[in-house]
Amino acid sequence: MTVSLTSRLRLTLLLVLLTAWTAAAHAADPADMPAAPSGQAVYEHWCAPCHAPGPGHPGTQSLQFKYAGKTPAVLLERTDLSPQVVSVFVRQGVLLMAPFRKTEITDAELAALASYVARNFKRNTRSPARE
Ligand code: HEC
Repeated sequence: MTVSLTSRLRLTLLLVLLTAWTAAAHAADPADMPAAPSGQAVYEHWCAPCHAPGPGHPGTQSLQFKYAGKTPAVLLERTDLSPQVVSVFVRQGVLLMAPFRKTEITDAELAALASYVARNFKRNTRSPARE
């Protein structure tokens, strides 16, 4: 099996970006998390470091490659992600995005997070889960 050059370049880029992300994530203080689950707070803490707009965000840049502009690279701008799809990606992980355990994001936090990320979800649009 041959790995295409594009895949290798993409992986290399992601590894570089992940290194930067790890450094940034370690600077964050978990004590900043509020007690009651707020989808936005969970998102800002766990997802924004990789999915915020602009360079230096491996999730955003990977999705830029994946969809080549056909769908927004920024997670919060997507209209095709249902809360269910978001939850599956969060618990299962994809590529460099490791699965999140219940000790990191509880089921209650995930429910709040999934509705927050999927707040622009419009039914009848294509979803990555159905590809
Ligand atoms: C370590 C960086 C990182 C973190 C942290 C992260 N992600 Fe990701 N995420 C990625 C990468 C990389 C992809 C893969 C994109 C691809 O397939 O090219 C991805 C993909 C996704 C996808 C799939 C989108 C699609 O259309 O394929 C969803 C949904 C997602 N992330 C949601 C989240 C949520 C919600 C969080 C917070 C709990 C989160 N991510 C945290 C890096 C991250």
